[in-house]
This record gives sequence, structure tokens and C-alpha cells, in this order.
Amino acid sequence: MGKGKVVLAFSGGLDTSICVPLLKEHYGFDEVVTVAVDVGQPATDIEEATRKGELIGDTHYTIDIRERFVEEQLFPSIKANGSYEGYPMGTALARPLIAEEIVAIARKEGANAVAHGCTGKGNDQLRFDFIFRKAGLEIVAPMREMNLTREWEMEYAAEHGIPVPVVKEKPYSIDENCWSRSIEGGRLEDPAFHPPGDIYAWTVSPAEAPDTPEEITIGFAGGVPVSLNGAELSGYELIRTLNEIAGRNGVGRNDMIEDRILGLKAREIYEHPAATVLLAAHADLERLVLTRQELHFKKIVDDKWSELGYMGLVDEPLFWALSAFIDKTQERVTGFVDVILYKGSVTVAGRRSDEALYSDDLVSFESTTIDQNDAVGFSAYYGFQARLYHKK
Ligand code: ARG
Repeated sequence: MGKGKVVLAFSGGLDTSICVPLLKEHYGFDEVVTVAVDVGQPATDIEEATRKGELIGDTHYTIDIRERFVEEQLFPSIKANGSYEGYPMGTALARPLIAEEIVAIARKEGANAVAHGCTGKGNDQLRFDFIFRKAGLEIVAPMREMNLTREWEMEYAAEHGIPVPVVKEKPYSIDENCWSRSIEGGRLEDPAFHPPGDIYAWTVSPAEAPDTPEEITIGFAGGVPVSLNGAELSGYELIRTLNEIAGRNGVGRNDMIEDRILGLKAREIYEHPAATVLLAAHADLERLVLTRQELHFKKIVDDKWSELGYMGLVDEPLFWALSAFIDKTQERVTGFVDVILYKGSVTVAGRRSDEALYSDDLVSFESTTIDQNDAVGFSAYYGFQARLYHKK
């Protein structure tokens, strides 16, 4: 009598593919259920994962959560100006939902164990494990537990009739969803090594982008994007379209040294064209409609929200409390932002909103609505204590 069923988070790559026989031979499970979750990675990747899962898993599921990912993770992240150490989070936002889908399948299939292909060095193991542990499931992570080399994995795959992707000289680890594409590993692990052009798939290099600037208009309602150039689009469609527009203008690349949760520094490269534009436009619109007090305090809240999001602690009570604060502020973040994309740069050219706290009448050099003499009394007390101090 074996250990019953295990549900495996499955991408179709080499690591998660060899997990299938390993879970049986090495861990003693009787049945492996493979689950591929679609968060907007390339359609070919999802098709490949489905084909492979059906071939080598005992039962396979492919689950499309693209719209849910946008509504439940990306929209809140836009409201929170979600970024970690200066880049828009992507992988971090997808992991909790993927884990939740795995948990739901485990319940449905009556499995007490779940498995993932994460290593023991990255963030994803922690993001998955947090959700799995909360659900009270046994966690199996062969890559983390067995210290396997790539060569061993290839041989093992061949012995078990697992189709191995043709290995071109591109040994990178890539993670994609509709918000961002991350590239790491291989020669990129040398932080001094300049990234070759062929690692990028969503963006052209700024030097190769068109010589004419491209102007777009983004409409926001309640802090989230709802239209592009006047056309109302679903969140997912809007992000897809904007990835293309911004990507062809060389917008949205990051090459950075990142501090992982464990403390390891890692060299990470990202592409996130739509995210770059939407975060810039959103933050600009906030400046038009929120008060100075709201803006300054929200910066602190946004940073903490992002840190917890990066760590995958999305069921931490503080995360919920910060989200409630952010949602409250976003009720008025409605309006339009014109953005110019040009050779890798994103420039806001104009913004307008019925909720604007801006009055050209009050601020204008030409207007007399405000009696400037009122400022004289205000000024008399300005810096009062500091002036006393300097007199001493
Ligand atoms: N460093 C990023 C994060 O922790 C991306 C990791 C994605 N994984 C990958 N295999 N490229 O969110």
C-alpha cells in the first residue's frame, strides 16, 4: 500500500516533469495529479504543459485563471503602486493564486499531499508553502530535498520516456505571467555579465525602438485601468494590448540585484512593459486627486503592502488591513492620463479628473480669487520655533 495521491504544480518544464516519476519511485505515491495554471504565460507553454501532463500524469488539469489573476492580484497591485526594490512584482503575485488552485484540486481529488518543483534557494518555495501549510497539506519538494543536477535529471527523464525540451544554448530559468517575464540563471548569474539581446521576448531594445514617439491615453476608474485610447477593455485585454504597445517602444526592462526573502542577493532581469506604464500613469493620477496627507502616508502603506506581497504573505492580517486602507483611497482615483512612449521612456504628458483637487483658478499667476495678503499672517508664524532656536 503506497502513500496515495499527490497533486503537483506542473509547468511542463524539466524539473516538474521528472517530479512525476520521482514522486512515485522515490516518495512512494501511487498517483500523481498534475495541474497547470494559466496566468497569462504564452499559449504555447500552456499547450505544452497540458500535452505533457496528459501524457505523464495519472490525471491532469489545466486551469485558466487569467481574469481572476488580473482582478484579484494585479488590480490591487496597481492600486498599491506595487513594486519591490524598484521593479513591478509579477511572479510574487501569481504564486498565491496558483497555490490556492492546487489546494482546491487536492480537496477535490482527496489528496493529502501537494508537490512543487521549487528549489531551496528562491522565494517561490516560501510563497507556495505558506498557502499549502495553511491548508494543512503535506508538502513535497523534490528539487529542494534531493539536490539534483541538471545532467542527472536529463538522464532520468530519458529513462522514463519523458520528452525533454531541445536544449538550445539558453539555460535560463524563465517565469512568465501577463504582468511580467523574469529571466535568471545561466551566465546571467555573473552580475558583471551583460545580458545578451536574445533573452528578451516582450520588449525591443530602446535603441531599436521607433524614432517617433507614441502617445496613448489610459482611463482609470476607482484606481484601476478601464480604457485604452478611448476603448473600454477587460483588465486582461488591456494589459495584453499595452504590453505590445509599450514593448515595441522599448519600455519596461529591468536588470537588477535583488534581495530575496532568504537574504540571498540575486541578479534578476525583468520585462514588464504594461506594468511600467500603468504604474507610472496611476501614480500620476493619484497626485492629482489625493491630498498631500493621503499621498505621504500612502507611500509608507504601499511600501509595506509590496513587501508583504513579495513575501507571499497575502493572508497576513496586516496585508488585509493595508489593502482596506488602499481601497478607501482609490475610490476617487478616476480620470485620464496621456502617456508618451519613446525609446524606453515613459512620460506623462497630461492628466485630467473630475475628482482633481487642483484648481487652476486658485494657483494661477493671473488670478485674483485668492487675496495674497492672507499669506502674510501665515508666513509670520512659519518656521517659528526654528527661528527662535537660531536666535539663541
Ligand atoms: N525574483 C522574482 C521573484 O521572486 C522572480 C523569480 C521567478 N522565477 C524564475 N524561475 N525566473 O518574484
